[in-house]
Amino acid sequence: MTKNREHRVLAIANQKGGVGKTTTAVNLGTALAAVGKKVLLIDLDAQGNAGTGLGISSEDYDYTSYHAMIGEAALPDAIIPTKVKGMDICPASQDLSGADLDLSGMQRRAHRLADALCAGGGTVLNRYDYIMIDCPPSLSMVTINAMVASTGIIVPLQCEFYALQGLSQLIKTVRRVKATLNPDLDIQGVVLTMYDSRNNLSAQVVEDVREYLGKIVYDTKIPRNVRISEAPSHGKPALLYDHSCAGSQAYIHLASELLRREHDAIAA
Ligand SMILES: Nc1ncnc2c1ncn2[C@@H]1O[C@H](COP(=O)(O)OP(=O)(O)O)[C@@H](O)[C@H]1O
Ligand SMILES: [Mg+2]
Repeated sequence: MTKNREHRVLAIANQKGGVGKTTTAVNLGTALAAVGKKVLLIDLDAQGNAGTGLGISSEDYDYTSYHAMIGEAALPDAIIPTKVKGMDICPASQDLSGADLDLSGMQRRAHRLADALCAGGGTVLNRYDYIMIDCPPSLSMVTINAMVASTGIIVPLQCEFYALQGLSQLIKTVRRVKATLNPDLDIQGVVLTMYDSRNNLSAQVVEDVREYLGKIVYDTKIPRNVRISEAPSHGKPALLYDHSCAGSQAYIHLASELLRREHDAIAA
């Protein structure tokens, strides 16, 4: 997908589970919507945590990202509003866990999501400023579809001893997709999640990651914060559940840092 300054498609990806992908997709999306951006969240994880974390259940929709990708529904028919003003969602379903097999026999199997976003001259693409794709914890064909559809990737890294483990595999995959399927693709930013200021290890991990990855690591760190982990069980983003908690404030900072960096990149 060509880089267009008017809408950004960001894949939130890391093949490790539990690093904060869904939390980042939901709360960064909410923070961007709060400053007036039109946001679409596409859930590509069969677990469907982005939807449930927003209080959405299977009675609320007929079609999902799975149907849109395999062509059983048009993408606009798989999009519903959320309780966050300015943010819509394309929910996920369990079917996605078998999607790689479905996709394997299809033409343009890596482009299914990109094609769905661009269908009708970009009906969906043109409706949003930001499209955030919550990826599954794998480097599967579903994740490749997200990478092909994206203008950039945001990688959440958990502040733990093994933070960098697996990252070289992710970077290799991004390079391969860039070389063959989507020349515009880059890792746009790395966000450190679940930072614990009382833990020396967290501080050491931050230092190591910054040294290894340099300036693509956002200055904003997301602290480990119990309010963030409670919010999904109330069907709300942390930003609506407890706007003033440290976790919500960090996601608001992250959104403004992302906007500032994009602005600087365009100006440069
Ligand atoms: N900053 C945080 N502080 C506390 N808990 C968090 C934080 N970020 C995520 N979590 C919790 O950690 C778990 C994994 O996060 P999640 O976003 O679902 O990761 P992923 O999508 O990468 O699997 C969830 O239970 C989530 O609520
Ligand atoms: Mg997730």
